[in-house]
Amino acid sequence: MSIQQAYNQWASQYDTNDNKTRDAEAIVLKTLLRDIDFHSCLEIGCGTGKNTQWLHTKANTLMGLDFSEAMLQEAQRKIQAPHVQFIQANILEPWHFVQQPFNLVVFSLVLEHIENLDAAFAKAAAALQPGGYMYVGELHPFKQYTGSKARYTNEHGLQVLTCYLHHLSEFLNAGISVGFEVKRVFEYFDEDDANSIPRILGILFQLK
Ligand SMILES: C[S@@+](CC[C@H](N)C(=O)[O-])C[C@H]1O[C@@H](n2cnc3c(N)ncnc32)[C@H](O)[C@@H]1O
Repeated sequence: MSIQQAYNQWASQYDTNDNKTRDAEAIVLKTLLRDIDFHSCLEIGCGTGKNTQWLHTKANTLMGLDFSEAMLQEAQRKIQAPHVQFIQANILEPWHFVQQPFNLVVFSLVLEHIENLDAAFAKAAAALQPGGYMYVGELHPFKQYTGSKARYTNEHGLQVLTCYLHHLSEFLNAGISVGFEVKRVFEYFDEDDANSIPRILGILFQLK
């Protein structure tokens, strides 16, 4: 099953399943973006709008983008606001949806489904104003080393999605190589236990 088909299936239960990764990433996003002024936000892989609900309270304009129609429908049900626009697009294709540069691009739990980080970060840099920010919040690669992957259960059993492993150095170097500097790195540990394997890697980049 393709990643897009899987999210179309997962959409109706995505918000209600127990999902520590989903919930922890929302905490990381707020921690890294709370003190950042952003007025126009491009949220890549917005899904059911988990983070859109908070981001749109800080932004004057927000574009939520996803290739799953069913995930987008859940987001649209939750958030109806004149400054929020949802669009269906695949970020592996050219980013024709960028009409004006943004000052924040958000990737939450989406880059594990993207094989080529360099291409995604180059497109994000091109979509930003100078000085704009790029936030990355992903399942920590250390957690991926233990075999953790996006998954859900349906009537046919456990469905494990296609995921790509990106090491910490790949995330950092892919950003730096297209003109970002690293502003903050945050590692989220379950129960605040810094002796355990971190669950979420959060990185805040700023375009030079
Ligand atoms: C794990 S969900 C994360 C949703 C939301 N950002 C969150 O944190 O709850 C990943 C989302 O990325 C979307 N996605 C994956 N690959 C994509 C692609 N190539 N283009 C656009 N959206 C994509 C999926 O449809 C899905 O909604």
